[in-house]
Amino acid sequence: MSASAAPLEPGAPVRAPKPSEKWRRLRLLPLAAGAGAFLVGMWVGLARLGLTLPGSGELAEFHGALMIGGFLGTVISLERAVAIGRWWAYSAPVLSGIGAFVLIAGVPMLAGELFLLAGLLLTLFSGFIVVRQPALFTVVLTVAAACWVGGTIVWLKGAPAAESAGWWLTFLVLTIAAERLELSRLLSPPRSSQLTFILAVALILVGMARGELALTAAPFSGIGLLALTAWLLRHDIAMRTIRMTGLPRFSAACILAGYFWLALAGLLLLAMPPGAATFSYDAVVHAIAIGFVLSMIFGHAPIILPAVTGVRVRYSEAAYLPYGILHLSVLLRVAGDLFEGVDLRAASGPLTIVAFAAYAAVLIVASRKK
Ligand code: HEM
Repeated sequence: MSASAAPLEPGAPVRAPKPSEKWRRLRLLPLAAGAGAFLVGMWVGLARLGLTLPGSGELAEFHGALMIGGFLGTVISLERAVAIGRWWAYSAPVLSGIGAFVLIAGVPMLAGELFLLAGLLLTLFSGFIVVRQPALFTVVLTVAAACWVGGTIVWLKGAPAAESAGWWLTFLVLTIAAERLELSRLLSPPRSSQLTFILAVALILVGMARGELALTAAPFSGIGLLALTAWLLRHDIAMRTIRMTGLPRFSAACILAGYFWLALAGLLLLAMPPGAATFSYDAVVHAIAIGFVLSMIFGHAPIILPAVTGVRVRYSEAAYLPYGILHLSVLLRVAGDLFEGVDLRAASGPLTIVAFAAYAAVLIVASRKK
């Protein structure tokens, strides 16, 4: 989620270097497909929470695939294509964007095959980046892409949702961690710190391969997530930029709040693994998916959107309101899950959607101001 780290002058609109306008605007197509999958994914997610809503029943079982394959797979592949800067790299986001439409149209197997192809291409293209720029973060980005492929194969085989969810969430966690690792180089961390990063990633991969999200004990995933969070808190540049003002501070606040939920997911996997309580699986999945991943998206959107689409995006301090609503919705979700408060859980879903709608409104209003 950091195609290009644009300098972050407080209050200044973020503008990325201009490739040809026509080509850049074409990137809006896969982005629109991804956004469509996200909105439908949220809508049917509400049905999974027990809310009866028009048109949400049919696609409810594909909520996870819509969110991970349709939305994040498309957005992450698009970003990678922008970083590579070659026409052929756009084949991955285009394929997963089409996959998103095909899934919404109700043809899951074909959608799964398109996500699989997109994931294989993303892994291949990420491998090219390793050759061009051999570094720990480019290797981890490639391993992360391969987890998307692994999860999609497991999903196409019809395995229980928790098994594909383990792979897919690892795809997201390692992609974000690798990009924070890339940025942490600005602080030139000691080489030995790479060893602890590798160890944390290895524990997470072992936990994923064991399918711990579907088991009643998740030691590897639990310790791995805690170790990774500790590493990120120790080396992330956000620990510095939180003391700045404007967008740098807001992004840092989103990143650090995300680390809180990532650590909580690790603790829950140790203290209350999936299957140990009715909703502990849901608590772990959404502490990561909403608390960590969506918070990262909040923090990076004002930087990434201009870089990817050329659309001017202006930050505003009003963004702290949707930020607060987002994290309140996760708190209600996890509390509802842990104390089996069904109403609390049900209320958390619409609140997450309100947070996103409010955030989009804040950015649109701020960006329209002269
Ligand atoms: C309004 C927001 C959301 C709601 C209401 C929601 C609802 C749900 C529910 C009720 C489940 C089933 C949990 C269980 O079986 O106990 C679920 C599973 C899942 N959700 Fe969400 N979710 C939301 C947002 C997200 C987001 C943003 C992501 C990804 C970034 C995500 C990814 C997943 C995954 C991977 C699963 C597991 C696969 C599955 O069981 O289908 N969810 N979600």
